[in-house]
Amino acid sequence: MSEPDSRESEGRRQVRSMAHNLAVLYIVSIVIGFALCALLLYFKLVQHIHDSGTEQLQGEISSVRALLSTPSGLHAIRQVMQAEAQGEDATNCILMRIVDRDGNVIVDCPNMRGVLPPAAFPPPGDTRSKKYHARGANYLLRTARLTDPVSESRDWRLQIGLDLTEHDQLVGVYRTYLLLFGLGAFFFAIPSSYIVVKRGLRPLDEFSGSIRTITGSRLNTRLEPARFPSEMHSVVESVNAMMARLESSFQRLSHYSGNLAHELRTPINNLMLEAEIALSQQRSPQEYQEIISSSLTEYERLAAVIDKLLFLARADNEKNDLMFEKLDAGTEVEEVVDYFSDEAATAGIALVSRVDASFWGDRTLFRRALSNLISNALAYTPAGGEVTISSSKGSNGEVEIIVADTGCGIYSEHLPFLFDRFYRAKSGSHHSGTGLGLAIVKAIMEMHNGDVSAWSRPGHGTTITLQFPKHPSLKTGGKAES
Ligand SMILES: Nc1ncnc2c1ncn2[C@@H]1O[C@H](COP(=O)(O)OP(=O)(O)OP(=O)(O)O)[C@@H](O)[C@H]1O
Ligand SMILES: [Mg+2]
Repeated sequence: MSEPDSRESEGRRQVRSMAHNLAVLYIVSIVIGFALCALLLYFKLVQHIHDSGTEQLQGEISSVRALLSTPSGLHAIRQVMQAEAQGEDATNCILMRIVDRDGNVIVDCPNMRGVLPPAAFPPPGDTRSKKYHARGANYLLRTARLTDPVSESRDWRLQIGLDLTEHDQLVGVYRTYLLLFGLGAFFFAIPSSYIVVKRGLRPLDEFSGSIRTITGSRLNTRLEPARFPSEMHSVVESVNAMMARLESSFQRLSHYSGNLAHELRTPINNLMLEAEIALSQQRSPQEYQEIISSSLTEYERLAAVIDKLLFLARADNEKNDLMFEKLDAGTEVEEVVDYFSDEAATAGIALVSRVDASFWGDRTLFRRALSNLISNALAYTPAGGEVTISSSKGSNGEVEIIVADTGCGIYSEHLPFLFDRFYRAKSGSHHSGTGLGLAIVKAIMEMHNGDVSAWSRPGHGTTITLQFPKHPSLKTGGKAES
């Protein structure tokens, strides 16, 4: 499988696992919820049965006490027990025995002999029922004091047991139903969870479908947040913001390539024209020499453009080697000012430097940035004007190198684009540059983690400020103003 294919299938696997995880969580939550409800109901039922058994026993105890208080009560009790033993009475789930103070049986239910021995019963003071298991059945046992009808002392004991076989059968059936319903809920939850999760994730499919339709020629497409659930609004807005950035980068890129073609075509056209003229007739060596030296100027212009473009391309790819060192800005500026002093004098412009600062930077790049600014300032300042290079400290301790001129200035509408590649503001000067100088300055400042900003007033002059951070790793902020 090729690399993109494997990446694509990996991506699909991740989406599938998200649905799978959600479905599993859904199933687990249903099963846990159901199990908790079932356990609660089950224990409630068992408790209820136990309570109603205790109540039943209490009722029987009260009935026996009431019967014993009548003259022929004991006889009646004996008859009832006989009837139960012969299976004539339906209430034979109650088994009882009356014993005197010495433990002698006065009357008992024949069915309980050998099943519920007297020792199995709790002491008479215990008001709680006792659970007892014998011969494969469960019993609820209690002991109550009875009044001996002859001596009228409370010496007799009633040992009474409730056969829980029916109750246990009921609980067993209930348990089976709960298990069956639990299994049913589990098997229902598996497909239903996948359907629910699939439906829940449908907006994601729509989202990816909408993004899939965006091509290079449709970068102005924006997604409508209202079409998606509120949880996805921030994602949709982020995608829209990304699209806006992409669109603007694409526009810049297409401007850039258009400008680049234009910038290269002009000198090449000029060179072709000169070559055609040279070849159109027989010429003297002197004339050939003149044509070649004029071509050389165009070659130099072309080489300068290509050199600037290469520098910017390397800056884009962060391939320019930086040599950071502590620079004495005063000395560096003096060197560059010296270089331009003849040009300034010829143009009749005063070039003044008042710099006292030091910062971490690359000497060659700093000189290149400063040269571009001074070259601009001299080009756009008429004779009699002044170009001043000074320094100051920014609010966050950053070092500012300021190049100010008293030239033609720049209209405010140009300021936001001043540092774009090939951008040339229409100004009063006849200087024809490539429009790459300030873009290079910006790239150099970015390499220093610094910033560059421009201020200008048409007719009064322009000030460009380079900001170097206190430490080269810290970023400074800046903007263009008018
Ligand atoms: N000091 C200034 N005064 C007035 N306008 C300026 C000044 N500096 C720059 N500009 C304007 O900004 C534009 C861009 O400047 P930039 O240095 O990038 O290009 P350039 O000077 O035209 O060409 P290059 O520097 O590549 O030879 C210039 O064309 C000019 O219109
Ligand atoms: Mg320039």
